[in-house]
Amino acid sequence: MHTLIILGSPRKNGNSETLARSVASGIEQHPEATVEFIRLNDLQLSACQGCGGCNKSSTCVITDDMTPLYEKVDSCDHLLLVSPIYFYGLSAQCKTFVDRFQARWARKYLSGIRFRQDEERQGTLLATAATEGKKIFDGALLTAHTLFDALDLKNGEPLLVRGVDYFGAMQKQTLILEQAMALGRRIAGGRS
Ligand SMILES: Cc1cc2nc3c(=O)[nH]c(=O)nc-3n(C[C@H](O)[C@H](O)[C@H](O)COP(=O)(O)O)c2cc1C
Repeated sequence: MHTLIILGSPRKNGNSETLARSVASGIEQHPEATVEFIRLNDLQLSACQGCGGCNKSSTCVITDDMTPLYEKVDSCDHLLLVSPIYFYGLSAQCKTFVDRFQARWARKYLSGIRFRQDEERQGTLLATAATEGKKIFDGALLTAHTLFDALDLKNGEPLLVRGVDYFGAMQKQTLILEQAMALGRRIAGGRS
């Protein structure tokens, strides 16, 4: 079982990454589980140009650091999308990554190609936000769910943390980090 973890914050070792690393350590307790991190902020990703090039070929016509990520996402068993909340939505890095999957949306809905529909394949959103707002994760959840649908990934149980803002705040949330590790164990055991 291979989990691909997409880190969407520009802050290295920030709150959302700290959360993701706890989930990863739970996953890695399973002897057959493997984990790979991708830090979007280190990559050169063009925004989707809405050119329609993928409508027929189901392939993005832009060649950049996103190109190898399509194959990585296609071949993983579990995708973790990890983002800080920016203005009630995903970070720009995450949103750019998501939009480039228009090519996969086109493959599924325009070409009718269903690539993998293994029951166990899942996508999960991990997100952190500074405030306690009731709707603070709604935008990010909708975007993540739309992505997971395009990729034929089952919606995994999200882990959403309110009230963490300054750098290092997440490290003090020991209870939540334990919950994150438990989520990782469930993901690796196929029960999340
Ligand atoms: C540009 C920007 C926009 C933000 N917008 C929100 C917001 O709308 N609501 C909120 O609760 N927190 C907001 N935050 C705070 C971050 O979501 C919060 O600090 C998060 O835990 C940062 O995670 P990170 O350390 O992984 O980057 C914003 C932060 C930045 C830099």
